[in-house]
Amino acid sequence: MALPAHFLEELRARTPMAPLVGRRVKLARAGRNWRGLCPFHNEKTPSFHVYDNGFHCFGCGASGDAISWVMQTQGLDFMEAVAALAAEAGMEVPEPTPRAAEEARARADIFAVLAAAQESFARHLAQQEGAAGRAYLASRGLDDSACARHGLGWAPEGRETLIRELAGQGIELAQLVEAGLARAADATRPAADFFFGRVTFPIRDRRGRVIGFGARSLGDAQPKYLNGPESPVFAKRRALYGLDRAREASRKDKNNKIIVVEGYLDVITLAEAGFSGAVAPLGTALTEEHLAELWQLSPMPFLCFDGDAAGGRAAARALDLALPQLRPDRSLRVARLATKAGKDDPDSLVRRAGPAAFQAVLDAALPAAEALYLFLAEGAGTGVEARAGLLDRLKKSAARIEDRNLAAEFRRDLLDRFYAQRRGAQADRGPAGRPGPGAAGGRQPPSLRPVPLPPRPRPDPESARLSRADCLTLILCRHPRLLRSVEEAFALLDLPAPHARLRDAMLAWADAGQNRTETLDTAELLAHLQQVGLEAELERVLATSLRCAAPDAMPAEVEAGFWHFFGLMNPGRLEAEWMAATRDMAKHVDPASEQRLVALSTARAALRRGETGSETDL
Ligand code: UTP
Ligand code: MN
Repeated sequence: MALPAHFLEELRARTPMAPLVGRRVKLARAGRNWRGLCPFHNEKTPSFHVYDNGFHCFGCGASGDAISWVMQTQGLDFMEAVAALAAEAGMEVPEPTPRAAEEARARADIFAVLAAAQESFARHLAQQEGAAGRAYLASRGLDDSACARHGLGWAPEGRETLIRELAGQGIELAQLVEAGLARAADATRPAADFFFGRVTFPIRDRRGRVIGFGARSLGDAQPKYLNGPESPVFAKRRALYGLDRAREASRKDKNNKIIVVEGYLDVITLAEAGFSGAVAPLGTALTEEHLAELWQLSPMPFLCFDGDAAGGRAAARALDLALPQLRPDRSLRVARLATKAGKDDPDSLVRRAGPAAFQAVLDAALPAAEALYLFLAEGAGTGVEARAGLLDRLKKSAARIEDRNLAAEFRRDLLDRFYAQRRGAQADRGPAGRPGPGAAGGRQPPSLRPVPLPPRPRPDPESARLSRADCLTLILCRHPRLLRSVEEAFALLDLPAPHARLRDAMLAWADAGQNRTETLDTAELLAHLQQVGLEAELERVLATSLRCAAPDAMPAEVEAGFWHFFGLMNPGRLEAEWMAATRDMAKHVDPASEQRLVALSTARAALRRGETGSETDL
């Protein structure tokens, strides 16, 4: 709604920020401005700044002017916030335009018509003809007082009951049609009530005004639910059933949980069970408008759709829609009703197992990243192509998040899950067909799994250094292809003299073989090293026994093994390599750099766990 710009300017000018914000946030002077602890996220050191004409948090990015401050802290919409500030500033809010004023009057009329209909439906439910409706609702666990609390009603069987009844109050058919309560006559049939022979559920806007109705048939008559048509005051892409109560509850307790469910009865049953923040869309998928509404009430609403396949798809779709807009202080959680017990929805779960069971479902809700991974992974197959497709979808999903820091975190989280799962699968298979140790050990890289051996005397530092260099060199002798990706780090590593000689010869050999990658094989390398007179050095290296250097070791295992010994010899350099690999991945992704990062991470994690890798065991 357009207000004159000069009015808004003056309103802002007459509303000094610091006293306004100071009512809610303790502020201290910081030069010309003010500073305090940000009310929009949790922090211990103040990064929330207040200026003459606005606020900005350097921690979470929240920012705005006086009007948006009031909107965000009091849960008001724009016009409500303007009205509140104008009242304090002693200003009168101008009527936007003559046409807007006309529309406002028309809307007021529709609200009056809807309120009259609500009054009529509720009265019929309480009367004689509402007996069947009352009996049905009682069978759903709702007694008269619960019905009254939720404004449930009864639309009688006749086709013109409401039309006639409201005509008696001076309301015309055209008004009923506009409000979505009646169908106009056409060539084949006379005008008729929209709802008949059904229990009615009033749909209210955020302020509690009735904007439309949904209605359920008794028993199995189809359609089960009939939602009224859209009208000037009822837009399904914006309306949420239960929003007024949820909003009230959030106002009283800003930690109140906001829970998006699928149906009318879910909202009602949850509210009766004490979950006053339940809301439902009106038979449509969740929209961006819905999300905006939800985030006004809570930074982290729960999605809790039915425990059937359709519910799963609805949650996946809603999360997908929300993705671009997620921020560090604005996300979703996905609560999943166990599908094992059948097709529970929140209503049936609470009725069957009580509020505590539903609370448990909320407590087990998944953070957005985890839910996203599951949704994407659930549909993916297991073959190599399917895994590559999944990896691609994971990256693309993370990239859709507009907040750059969060996008990077999501990416890391999703890829971690992907590789953890893959490592799990590899451990199950075991290297090169050997029986694996099972999924339980899957998170630990196979090459670095500690092997129980009798304790041995600790080697002195110099012999430890020699044997680490042996291991490192052995890995490259047995898997010379790895030279390509570790070349630089290997070339710069400080090595004992015999190993340095081997290294230089190896790199020269690899360099000469630049254009024939396929011939970087062990036999050729060993022959070359002998040729250049390094037999003795080679002999000591080849006498080392090392699991991850075995000819049949998996490439990932080999690479992780290399970085492990590299890290033991130069921890600082390993850290730098790891950081560089992380940066590379953010810029450009290919399978090789991914494998490199995984290998570096694996080695790094093992070293952090304190696995010094008793060299000959690995
Ligand atoms: P459900 O069938 O899950 O609703 O549909 P529910 O509340 O759990 O149903 P009962 O009463 O317990 O059997 C979820 C929502 O989808 C819309 C309604 O908004 C309903 O609340 N819907 C469902 C329709 O619009 N039309 C239908 O025929 C069915
Ligand atoms: Mn349901």
